[in-house]
Amino acid sequence: MNDSSLTKHNGLIQWVDAMAAMCQPDRVYWCDGSQREYDAMIKIMVDCGLATPLNEKTRTKSYLFRSDPSDVARVEDRTYIASKSKDEAGPTNNWIDPDELKKTMKGLYTGCMKGRTMYVIPFSMGPVGSPIAQIGIELTDSPYVVVNMHIMTRVGSAVLDALGENGTFIPCLHSVGKPLGPGESDGHLWPCAPIEKKYISHFPEEKTIWSFGSGYGGNALLGKKCFALRIASVMAREQGWLAEHMLILGITNPQGVKKYIAAAFPSACGKTNLAMLIPSIPGWKVECVGDDIAWMKFGEDGRLYAINPEAGFFGVAPGTSMDSNPNAMKSIDRNTIFTNVALTENNDVWWEGIGYDPPAGRIIDWTGAEWTKDSGKLAAHANARFTAPARQCPAIDPNWEDPKGVPISAFLFGGRRPTTIPLVHQAFNWNHGVFLGSIVGSEVTAAAISANIGQVRRDPMAMLPFCGYHMGDYLKHWITIGSRTSAEKLPKIFYVNWFRKTADGKWLWPGYGENSRVLKWVFERVNGEGKAQDTAIGHMPTVDAIDRSGLDVSDADMRELLAVDHDEWKREIASIREHYARFGDRLPRELADELAALERRLG
Ligand code: OXD
Ligand code: MN
Repeated sequence: MNDSSLTKHNGLIQWVDAMAAMCQPDRVYWCDGSQREYDAMIKIMVDCGLATPLNEKTRTKSYLFRSDPSDVARVEDRTYIASKSKDEAGPTNNWIDPDELKKTMKGLYTGCMKGRTMYVIPFSMGPVGSPIAQIGIELTDSPYVVVNMHIMTRVGSAVLDALGENGTFIPCLHSVGKPLGPGESDGHLWPCAPIEKKYISHFPEEKTIWSFGSGYGGNALLGKKCFALRIASVMAREQGWLAEHMLILGITNPQGVKKYIAAAFPSACGKTNLAMLIPSIPGWKVECVGDDIAWMKFGEDGRLYAINPEAGFFGVAPGTSMDSNPNAMKSIDRNTIFTNVALTENNDVWWEGIGYDPPAGRIIDWTGAEWTKDSGKLAAHANARFTAPARQCPAIDPNWEDPKGVPISAFLFGGRRPTTIPLVHQAFNWNHGVFLGSIVGSEVTAAAISANIGQVRRDPMAMLPFCGYHMGDYLKHWITIGSRTSAEKLPKIFYVNWFRKTADGKWLWPGYGENSRVLKWVFERVNGEGKAQDTAIGHMPTVDAIDRSGLDVSDADMRELLAVDHDEWKREIASIREHYARFGDRLPRELADELAALERRLG
């Protein structure tokens, strides 16, 4: 589509006109979401050398992109929650006064699309027409963003039809921040602005997103973290639902009974791997609804129903292999966009942790330079990504696009905790479960900031970088959700930790497909089964409760995996108290009570 003739939504047309007047693109193009459009965008980028077509046999219709070395990840310190008051954004978000931020950004946006096309992308987060889905319109000057949005969201005319003449949409403005002079072109270079000009801004009262200066991932694909988490979390609080950083999976027992589980872990704790795992226990099946985000609303029956608002996976490539995640590997053998991975002589991709050595012949690293194994450099950037359609996952759930969502029976929270936290425990009740979510954290290991080794970085519900308002109010919203329905209809809440180690640093639990054994216990518990005993920290499996048939984990190891060391937990209490102090008087009283009750139980 070259004009706005497919919409009669005057508010939308006026907003696009106003943004075009400010950004001054050479032309405006309305996206229809078609394959023809996708192919045309790819052709533009192949012709200028920004995209490299990959081997048609091994990576059918797939392309490699290399970003600018300064534009490789989300930029949390340039990400802003510009609510009217600083207090509303809370202590865990960067805040700038919205009027001041708009003034600065209008200066940057003025003329920023000169020499470029402004693409208008109508997109739906969630199946078009689902009562849980929401519509956004992204304006961008990046064809790379257009093709990624085609995969990650539902784009096109059906969305404009659903919007009608006066439907609500979230305006999302994006520019790479690099206007072109007359006759100038990017050539094969990735356009972006220097770090001090990058702004990933959210205006929660207006429900608007303005992003400038980055073309990478969550900074630029505005449906993902910006809309589906930061802005949606604000909408969810106002409207009584949940927008969470959670995978969604379905698990079916050998008798054919199926339950859905949603799980929140901080970034880089294996959400994509768990979402697609292949169970090691015979007769059990796991199917994937989503690997990153869940939107949940109460159904008429009083249960929480979840949709995956996304339509694709934007996964971290390094570490993904046929061992760690065969279903992800099978999802990316066609129609996939790779960014910042290495290129082999055979025009295939390679990355550290792909499960085999780099093939013989020339290897080009993510910076475009020739690479050898002994160069001491990474061939793929640590945050190199694949963008692949979710429907290509062999384990995609048959109900993954059900407009009413899937009923959630359990929430899992977890992080990387070499000590203290057992393999799995279950909350006594909803408020105790919210408490478990509020204390999620990962221990800093030697691989990270050495001065903080052993300290726990807290990341409540894995939402620290993604909550669009005060984290204390967010926790209160979770408490309130628990009073909206009867206890037996609420999901049961569990805390899992695959990362516990022995005193001499060995993993106690094999992880990956074996995590299905823990999921089995969770399944049994929500079914009113599963052996458990009460401890100070929650309901715990007995040593024989987790199915270890065919698995080489001894009783002694199991006892260690399930150990509750009261001294360690007392240190944990001190650390939780410090964490809670950040929220001041916005910490929900219910959570202060849970902390006090835990302390009492520990004696
Ligand atoms: C992601 C993240 O990319 O959580 O999903 O950082
Ligand atoms: Mn994520």
